[in-house]
Amino acid sequence: MFTKETYVSRRNRLKKQVGSGLIVLLGNEQSSMNYKDNWYHFRQDSTFLYFFGIDRAGLVAVIDVEANAEVIFGEELTPDDIVWMGPQKSIREQASEIGVGLTKPLATLDSYFQHALAKKREIHFLPPYRPENLLKLSSWLQTAPASIKSMASVPLIKAVVAQRSIKTPEEVAEIEKGINTTVEMQIAAATLARAGMTEAELAGQLQSIAIKGGGNLAFPTILTVNGQILHNHYSPTVLQEGQLVLVDCGAASATHYSGDLTRTFPVSSSFSAKQKEMYAVMMTAYEQAVAMLKPGVKYKDVHLQACTQLAEGLKHLGLMKGDAQEAVAQGAHALFFPCGLGHMLGLDTHDMEDLGEEYVGYAEDQTKSTQFGLKSLRLARALEPGFVLTVEPGLYFNPDLIELWSAEKVHADFINYEQVAGYKDFGGIRIEEDFLITPEGSRVLGNPLPRNMEEFRQFAR
Ligand code: GLY
Ligand code: MN
Ligand code: MN
Repeated sequence: MFTKETYVSRRNRLKKQVGSGLIVLLGNEQSSMNYKDNWYHFRQDSTFLYFFGIDRAGLVAVIDVEANAEVIFGEELTPDDIVWMGPQKSIREQASEIGVGLTKPLATLDSYFQHALAKKREIHFLPPYRPENLLKLSSWLQTAPASIKSMASVPLIKAVVAQRSIKTPEEVAEIEKGINTTVEMQIAAATLARAGMTEAELAGQLQSIAIKGGGNLAFPTILTVNGQILHNHYSPTVLQEGQLVLVDCGAASATHYSGDLTRTFPVSSSFSAKQKEMYAVMMTAYEQAVAMLKPGVKYKDVHLQACTQLAEGLKHLGLMKGDAQEAVAQGAHALFFPCGLGHMLGLDTHDMEDLGEEYVGYAEDQTKSTQFGLKSLRLARALEPGFVLTVEPGLYFNPDLIELWSAEKVHADFINYEQVAGYKDFGGIRIEEDFLITPEGSRVLGNPLPRNMEEFRQFAR
């Protein structure tokens, strides 16, 4: 939690920017896993946390901009709840801690909105990503569920994105707490991994570090010897000598700010010659991308530069051919790098993704490409001081995709399929660091974590 003044000033700025109407911000509810009372780990909505800071299920906040009034709706605990949950602060007490003087029962929301609709008040809300919140909005606004998302308020989305995109020093400090725990997780992975262990065994150890750090995992850990599959989490697969382990993990701080780091290291004490060459290609792309980070530079250009460098390196290894820039313009490199270079980081790992990439990652004059690879770039806009983002180049050898492209001779002018065939079982590698954009350039966030993974693995294990 930040100070009361922080939350008050964030809301004042929001009111000023939205200008008129009612702003409705929905907190999250508990979510049942397999029967009603067996819940998933609770995660409050990030925008609700940003403006109200209350980490509690089942709340709705309404800000009446014209009346300059703020109300938190929720149900206070009953004696029955206290039996199961022990004593808790009241909603009234929690609201007062963040500068909101008025709380009301949830049951009064129906008539509140009926009144607002009768008066034809403008009602601003964000696109809901949880079905129960979508259904609540549908009922309050007397509109079919299918129409709700398209009615989300663009002025509200833009006002929230404008504030949450620029991290204050106190937010950067929280992000660094998440990253520092993530660094500990990465060190543990590189220290503990041994041939004969399962991916799941190692991933379990990392989660205990995240919990010990005061928060929890910010997203399900990706820990795999099949790093070529981008969202392969972990499985009972046994680590074997000669394989590469890709670890992409993130701890959240106690206040829910996320870290997000990736390292790839050999199960054996050193990389094979092939692995070492490929790692060097990725690192050159990483270094070139990092050198470009400064205000005013479009992240799309950083992405394209990294792609071009990856293509140059692959050309050097004989896997690609022709002009690297032209290969990237046509999307040929996407066989090996089918995703974006990075994304905003903050309360969410993919920060504000629920609000829409067109507002978070793209300027009004930028449209998202539909080209394979580039269509997955989440962040393209010009960088500003205060942005926190990831840089995460990788090289992925997905045998199914290689077969598909090879059979159809896709971009055959740029890809040496005969050579690529020898890499079908290579797997995938990625490196990922988190950066703050400063007025002068950028700063890598968190405690240092080695990037020379062969040296580090030999030292650590
Ligand atoms: N861990 C998710 C990502 O790196 O985007
Ligand atoms: Mn990331
Ligand atoms: Mn990651």
